[in-house]
Amino acid sequence: ESTLGAAAAQSGRYFGVAIAANRLSDSTYQSIANREFNSVTAENEMKIDATEPQRGQFNFQNADRIYNWAVQNGKEVRGHTLAWHSQQPGWMQSLSGSALRQAMIDHINGVMAHYKGKIAQWDVVNEAFADGSSGARRDSNLERSGSDWIEVAFRTARAADPSAKLCYNDYNVENWTWAKTQAMYRMVKDFKQRGVPIDCVGFQSHFNSGSPYNSNFRTTLQEFAALGVDVAITELDIQGASPTTYAAVVNDCLAVSRCLGVTVWGVRDMDSWRSGDTPLLFNNDGSKKQAYNAVLNALNAG
Ligand code: G3I
Repeated sequence: ESTLGAAAAQSGRYFGVAIAANRLSDSTYQSIANREFNSVTAENEMKIDATEPQRGQFNFQNADRIYNWAVQNGKEVRGHTLAWHSQQPGWMQSLSGSALRQAMIDHINGVMAHYKGKIAQWDVVNEAFADGSSGARRDSNLERSGSDWIEVAFRTARAADPSAKLCYNDYNVENWTWAKTQAMYRMVKDFKQRGVPIDCVGFQSHFNSGSPYNSNFRTTLQEFAALGVDVAITELDIQGASPTTYAAVVNDCLAVSRCLGVTVWGVRDMDSWRSGDTPLLFNNDGSKKQAYNAVLNALNAG
């Protein structure tokens, strides 16, 4: 196959991309995104500050621009994200305790109702664990509302849209030996044992010199899949875009039957949240980088 999406589909997987609504009017951007990818994540437009800027007043204008573009072009959509310490609107940042808990529940219900039956996977909870060696939860207003906030979010989400796969999503959880990975593993194991509804784990996979790719990522994917959840690579970008590393990540997904697919976090380097790292698959002029060829070859060989 000659595109990433079609090549991934040979093994029943998708190859996705993060889309920014305000770039869809750029014809180079739009044509690459449409040609190469068959899954879409909104880079910012489905986040809490974008979808509920004032309490109880939902705004899906930019989210729907991306959703409609994706569906009109035959792509599935990953929802990102419903409960997160970051990109909270001011009104939510100022809440705590039971008021915040209720606001989180209301937010999940409001957004999931709008997209009921339309989203393949939702990142229900994003980035709840601390970095470093503690293996602790990240301190946030959500955590201080009671550490059961994560399972409450998942139970709320299951009731709101039973057709969506419900994911926990995080970064620096790709290396099997890291404390953050093990903490996330213990949570998913506990959720599965107690029947908390979780279907998938998203590994963001923002690799750089401080958080480099390690070949034990495949072990991580296998160990989580063995708990009975799907896994996905949700925000892939690699500082310097080493073709070898890109191929290794794709091969790790292909090696795990429960790996649903790979999403890269932007189209061209200039579209990246860390464009100085030139971490993506396309140059600014829209041409394919060596990493693109490495990924396409890996998908076609798998
Ligand atoms: O929309 C405003 C614009 O009006 C304003 O003029 C401009 C000036 O700063 O800011 C614009 O908002 C920015 C927004 O991206 C849209 O471009 C925010 O400042 C900026 O903080 C925001 O960054 C996003 C970041 O999440 C925020 O946490 C990145 O685009 C986005 O790629 C990044 O994505 C996250 C995932 O959601 C979760 N995992 C990590 C990943 C990378 O940080």
